[in-house]
Amino acid sequence: MTRPNLQVALDHSDLPSAIKAIKTVGDIVDIIEVGTILILQAGDQAVRCIRAMYPDKTIVADTKCADAGGTVAENVQKAGADWTTVICCATIPTMKAAAEKIAAVQVELYGDWTYAQAQLWLAAGIRQVIYHQSRDALLAGETWGEKDLAKIQKLIDMGFQVSVTGGLDVDTLKLFKGMAVYTFITGRGITAAQDPAQAATAFLDEIKAIWEA
Ligand code: 5RP
Repeated sequence: MTRPNLQVALDHSDLPSAIKAIKTVGDIVDIIEVGTILILQAGDQAVRCIRAMYPDKTIVADTKCADAGGTVAENVQKAGADWTTVICCATIPTMKAAAEKIAAVQVELYGDWTYAQAQLWLAAGIRQVIYHQSRDALLAGETWGEKDLAKIQKLIDMGFQVSVTGGLDVDTLKLFKGMAVYTFITGRGITAAQDPAQAATAFLDEIKAIWEA
């Protein structure tokens, strides 16, 4: 089974902090996410800076776009993003318009969504979804468990590349053993660690230990 990618999410509230963080882990991770919080604060300048620093990395602009998909995707693509995100309640025309302007669109699964909708995303040519435990759900006491694994497996079986995110730590990864997860996305598990480079390496080593064993 192919090993899942490791993606770091830069959810900083200002660009200098994000730049400081990525300098320590950018060469370790597979994918760099300009997180929603950072995009809202620093806009496409954040994407431009990270692209200038890492010309060869896959960069995701996590816009969680709900409307004007074509315009938003085109703007972040021009700034240097490879992929962008749309929220799962966005309309199919919004998703299709975004997909026409950038190499890949990822559907962010929050709140209520159905497998019937997911089938429509596939029919629209979208191949990637992001399965979340939201910050606020985690704060309210939610944890990763069987209910999540079953939904993730079903999405994989439908043909999606599934990224998994939300409060992940190194110990959480073994829950997903045996599953063809596409990417693990970690924000605070890396960027808020005392030694972010060591934390990123620990995530990557654990992914390799589980999926390359
Ligand atoms: C929140 C996000 C985060 O970037 C992603 O889930 C990483 O979060 P965490 O800090 O919990 O690892 O997309 O909407």
